Amino acid sequence: MVSLDQLEKDLLAQIDQALSLQDVEDIRIAALGKSGSISELMKTLGKLDAEQRREMGEHLNRLRESVSNAIKNKMEGFKEALLRERLQKEAVDITLPGRSHNKGSIHPIVQAQFDVMEIFSKMGFYLADGPDIETDFHNFESLNFPDDHPARQAQDTFYLPTNQKGEKMLLRTHTSPVQVRAMLEAKPPLRIIATGRVYRSDFDQTHTPTFHQLEGFVIDKNVHMGHLKGCLIQFCREFFERDDLPVRFRPSFFPFTEPSAEVDIGCSRDNGVLNIGPGADWLEILGCGMIHPNVLKNCGIDPTVYQGFAFGVGIERIAMLKYGITDLRAFYEGDLRWHKNYGFSAFDALMRRRS
Ligand code: DAH
Repeated sequence: MVSLDQLEKDLLAQIDQALSLQDVEDIRIAALGKSGSISELMKTLGKLDAEQRREMGEHLNRLRESVSNAIKNKMEGFKEALLRERLQKEAVDITLPGRSHNKGSIHPIVQAQFDVMEIFSKMGFYLADGPDIETDFHNFESLNFPDDHPARQAQDTFYLPTNQKGEKMLLRTHTSPVQVRAMLEAKPPLRIIATGRVYRSDFDQTHTPTFHQLEGFVIDKNVHMGHLKGCLIQFCREFFERDDLPVRFRPSFFPFTEPSAEVDIGCSRDNGVLNIGPGADWLEILGCGMIHPNVLKNCGIDPTVYQGFAFGVGIERIAMLKYGITDLRAFYEGDLRWHKNYGFSAFDALMRRRS
């Protein structure tokens, strides 16, 4: 009995003096591990008679409990101290000024595309797509362009080598070939818009070799000019956020529409500052018309059953007018100061699309 008391005293003293978590762990193994001093004593119980076993057993249990409690407490103490030390070391000085991030922004061309898509998707239009590298067939021939049309000449269009199938290839000069692709792929009724890059061999203050267009068209039975006008007036007013915006249709010509029109919106100029809205002036913003029967035929649609209207809009042009941007070339220069000034918050765009 005395030796058990002594053993307990020794172990508790060792635990008390332990300097690290590892020290305590070593003591635990030496006392309570498989062949630790207490464990070894436990093993001898079997050899004792019943009376002795009960007495010794009780005593050993008490010893084991007191030692393992002491070990547990000591370990917790060390763990807490370690944690405190770590927290102190890793403390963050919240009084330091934060590091600012260079936030990106949505380019006005992309923002204008979002705005346009939002308006037309509410009217039930679907989004379609087409390649930037097109065949002459999709870009010109199927759209009723005569052979001698100026757009077909090398000084206006970027031509590429003929492809493996022997097709004449080019960089699309407008988004109208998406109409052809959509008509060849699906049966009417169709209500489609597409936005994307187009290319023309042109470069001056108001023209760049690459720019963006929005294309839209509707094909159904009994579609007429009234639908075209209603749809585009609604679009102009929503895009420029003015219910009183005057919209005017002027006769024009495109090979792929008959009749064709150009659309102007009202504006005024005040000491050189342009204001969109009712006023004495007009600004041309898009081309449109009833889809030419030849185009429908070229795309396998019977023009005696179906009619359609179509429209094409320069994205840069409407973005410049809406957001007050005066220089077309700045769109492509990648000047961060310009982006900061004219760019849109990605967060705003996301929230608007969610609502
Ligand atoms: N594709 C024409 C262009 O680039 C724009 C256009 C005009 C598209 C009338 C149309 C349309 O769909 O109906 O100048």
